[in-house]
This record gives sequence, C-alpha cells and structure tokens, in this order.
Amino acid sequence: MDFVRLAARYCQLKKRGKNYWALCPFHKEKTPSFSIDAENGLYHCFGCKEGGNVFSFLQKMEGVSFGEAVRLLAAEAGIDVTSYEGRGAPDEDERVSLREAHELATTFYQKCLEKARGGTRAREYLKGRQISAESVELWRLGYAPEGWDHFLNCATGRGYNADLLERAGLVLARQSGGPGHYDRFRNRLIFPIADTAGRPIGFGARALSPDDEPKYLNSPDTPLFSKGSCFFGLDRAKPAVRSGDTAVVLEGYTDVIMAHQAGVTETLAVLGTALTEQHARTLRRLCSRVILVFDADEAGQKSAARSVEVLLNEELEVRVAELPAGLDPCDYILQHGGEKFRERLEESLGFFEFRMGLARGRHDTGTVQGKTAAFREMVELAAGLRDAAQREMVVQWIADEFRVSPGSVWQHLQRLPGPARARATSTAPDGRPERTGLTADDSLPGEVLGLLLAHPDYVPEAVDRLDTEMLRDGPEKTVLERLLGDLDQGSGAETRDVLNSLAEPALASAASRALAEERSRETRVSDADENTRERFEGYVEYLKAKRDAAAAELSAPVEMLDDRALKAREKELRDRDRQSSQGR
Ligand code: CTP
Ligand code: MN
Repeated sequence: MDFVRLAARYCQLKKRGKNYWALCPFHKEKTPSFSIDAENGLYHCFGCKEGGNVFSFLQKMEGVSFGEAVRLLAAEAGIDVTSYEGRGAPDEDERVSLREAHELATTFYQKCLEKARGGTRAREYLKGRQISAESVELWRLGYAPEGWDHFLNCATGRGYNADLLERAGLVLARQSGGPGHYDRFRNRLIFPIADTAGRPIGFGARALSPDDEPKYLNSPDTPLFSKGSCFFGLDRAKPAVRSGDTAVVLEGYTDVIMAHQAGVTETLAVLGTALTEQHARTLRRLCSRVILVFDADEAGQKSAARSVEVLLNEELEVRVAELPAGLDPCDYILQHGGEKFRERLEESLGFFEFRMGLARGRHDTGTVQGKTAAFREMVELAAGLRDAAQREMVVQWIADEFRVSPGSVWQHLQRLPGPARARATSTAPDGRPERTGLTADDSLPGEVLGLLLAHPDYVPEAVDRLDTEMLRDGPEKTVLERLLGDLDQGSGAETRDVLNSLAEPALASAASRALAEERSRETRVSDADENTRERFEGYVEYLKAKRDAAAAELSAPVEMLDDRALKAREKELRDRDRQSSQGR
C-alpha cells in the first residue's frame, strides 16, 4: 500500500523536496513538522518525535495491533502479507486470547465483589473511602477471593488452559509439589487497568488485610500490558485531556477514581512507577501540558522530580500542584470537594518556579553561600534538558532570577554532565563523527543507519565493509543488523521491505528518526554527495579502529605480568571506567 495515499486520508499533504509534509496528526501544531519519506515508507515528526512505518502509523491512528494493521492494509490493497508474518510480528491470536482471559477475569472479580462472603472486607474498604456504587460499576472494580484456585477453576471450566492464564499473568505455576497452577490475586481488591479502547489488559490489586504484602500487587508485563507504558484511567480521561489540552497525573487508583467521581476527569495515574519516556510520549499525543500532583512530603517530590525531566524532554509544559502534607488527592477531595481540588490545579506552579521555591526553602538565599547552592541546583536542572531551545530559555530565566549574566550560567552548565555537553561534542561542525570521546558512540548507530536509509546504494558496500558489531547496542543497531543481515543472506530484500517488517514500534520509530535526522543534516551541508562518501569512509574506519583496539586489548600479554603488575593494570582499567562514566 502506498503510504502517501493512506496518510492523505488523515492529513493534508504537501510535497516539498523528496518528502511529503503535513500538520502532525499526533500533536497540535500550526506549521507542518510531520514528514513522510515516500521512498522508504517512513514518517517522522520533528515536533513530537513520533515516527515509524506504515503499520505503526495505522496502529496509532486506529488503535490496533501490528497484526491487525497488516491485515487491514492487506485487505484493502490486496497485498500479500505472508512476507511480513513470522518475522517477529506479535501473534495476534495470542493477543486476542489474552484479552478474552482478562475480560473473563474482570467479570469474575466483579461478581465476587457483589456476592462473595469474603467480599465484605473489600466492600467496606470502598465504603470507607466513599467510592460510590456508580464508580464501582464504571471502573469495574472487583474482589479476588481468598483461596488458591477460584479463578483458575472458573477459567479452566470454560476451556481456558492454564498455560495461557499463566502468560496472561492471572495464575502462577507451582514451584514445588509437581505440576499445577494457582491464582495470582487472592483476597485483594481489584482495579482493572484498561487500554485506550477501555478493554481490561491488566490488574492492580490492593491487599485488604494489613499484614498482606505487598500492599499493591500488579499484573506482570505481558504482550498486552506493561507498567512502564500503561496508565490507569487513560481511557476515561482521554476526552477531557484532549479538550483541556492538559493531563493531570496522580499516584493512586483511588485518587483517580475519586477525582473522576468529583468531576475532575482529566486525571490518570501511573502504576506505582515513575513516568517513563513512553508515558510522556503517550501524553504528548493528547495534550501539551501536564500537571503533577504532589504530596508535599520529600519522597513524593523526589519521585516527581524524576518524572519531570522525562516530560520536559518530550516538550511538554510541566506544572506542579501541591496538596497539604499527608493528604493524597482522594483524601483531599473527600475533605474539601472537587471544586477546591480544581483550584489547587489552577494554582499550580510552572516547574522551574516550583523548584526555585524548593531551593529557596532549602538554602538561605540571603547569604552568598546559600544563593550559590540554590544557583547550582537550578543549573543542574537546566543541564538535564535535551532540547536546546528549551535549555536556552531556562538559562535566560535562571540568569534573570539570580541577576547574573546568561554567559556565566552557560559557563557553569558546560561543566556539568548531561545532554547539553554530550550534544556539543558528539559531532564535529562539518557533521562528521568525532573520532575520539565516548559521546560520539551514542549517536553513531543512528548516523550510520540514517546514511544507509537515505542512500540505499551504499548498503551492499556496508554489508562487506561496515563492522556493525562494534556499534553500541540499541534499536538503531538492531535495525542495521536486520537491514544488512537480510542482504547478506542474499534474500534479495529491499530496504523498504525490511523497514515495513519492523513490528516493534521502537524499531520502526528509531529507523524513521534516523532517516529524518539524516535528511535534515543533508540540507545543512553543501556538497552533499562528497560529504556522504567521506562520512561513510569515516564510519568504516572508525569501527575498524575500534575492532583493532578491542583485539589488541584481548591479546595483550597478560600472562607475562606478575601479580603486582596485574593489580596495577586492574586499577588502571577501573580508573578509566570511572573517568568515562563521569565524562558522560
Ligand atoms: N503503590 C504501589 N505499591 C505499593 C504502594 C503503592 O504500587 N506498595 C501505588 C499504587 O498504584 C497506589 C498508589 O501507589 O494506587 C498510591 O499508594 P497509596 O496511597 O499507599 O494507596 P492507597 O490505596 O491510597 O492506600 P491508603 O488507603 O493507605 O491511602
Ligand atoms: Mn493513597
């Protein structure tokens, strides 16, 4: 299927140079930064950094799996999909079965909450937190009964086999005492976690008796579910998040339920983890502002500080709302009501203002020493920012705040580890990788991949000459290996086929990012062709030199060293390690 024709259904495309451009369908913008490379069948947005192949595009636009996207396109265009199957595409039948098992479990736990004798405790807990009967039904809350095999028996009685239930994370295999399985969730209150379409794909389970550990037990990661990318409540929050352009991130299941119950429906929660890059990207597609709600205690603020960096790096505006110490949003809403809670959200501070307040509280900024300490803290924050424009704005802000020149903020910043420095040294001004320094290695796989995607005529040569093994591991390297490996085995694969067969979104998006960065690099240099040849030779040489260095290290005459010399060598290696990890 022609990607351009498909994309034209979702956005208004304009041809410019080799690429097609449009307003990005994944985030709000006024000038087009979404580009499609028709030749390679990849898309990339320079604004929100979304990227991938035709299948991941359809996956995101239609909320379907890779397999479903393949079939949709195949049905429509009459293309032969057999070449894409069996290449690491997640088995769609398995996903369907896993979903069914979760649906069954949800209904089972719901019934137990209504009926089971043991369910009294769970019902009392909900009543105690004032979660209404409507909320219980809306969120499909449940109760997993006490005992080892209630759910197992129910499901096997309906023809589910225990291995599937185990893969779904609903039962566990017995460690000892022969074969058999037992229920994962026992005597717990059940919070179903839904995908964006509202289908249950995992569970959070709260202990009901105080000596049950842990307090919360979550489903393990499965092909449907992962703690590092799913939210609780995303399906229900989505409309309000979109329309208000703001997502409010809370910490707990009960917090989200209570907020929705009180009419604050743009709320959702992470699943007992810090926000990840994947979380941030999901939010970025829906809105441009995120409000984090903190408990005023130190621990809450620390965990939130980690989340913030991730959000800022996805170019989301981050605000911070504070609640009185010791109150979680659920308690706060119960005491003060939804209106007051909304006021807290409206009074939220910009993240840097918030951190400035914290720094002022921690250090006595009336003294030079205290002021310097606060200054350092703020500069460290700025150094963590990946986006250059954003960093510049924050540097200016810090300079104003402390009444120093932006130059002296930069000076301090350059001395700190972080993306600011890594970026500055990873490529020489002419776009060639520097031959020295560890930072070049980070961007190398992406640069090599970009070059090969933009210039497929280099691919056969790369098969023979480029030592991919010496590249740092990551999605770019995986794509490179598939690209070069497929040609190597003489399967006659076209670059585009290899790209289309990337079922894992992370791989497809790494490929499109590499290509997009390559294109924008090339528009910046004159003599593009000559430059490409020179760069290619540079990569080949660099990787060869690395291989030689590694080989030399291996064959060093260690056996000739006596004990003391060995110790000295060990120390030398350790020191070098330490230096290089500090340098990054
Ligand atoms: N959480 C977790 N593991 C724990 C404790 C908490 O994953 N051991 C996560 C859960 O997602 C939970 C959230 O952190 O929803 C908030 O925790 P907490 O406030 O302790 O949960 P509540 O259910 O509100 O408990 P309590 O009734 O004691 O306030
Ligand atoms: Mn709580």
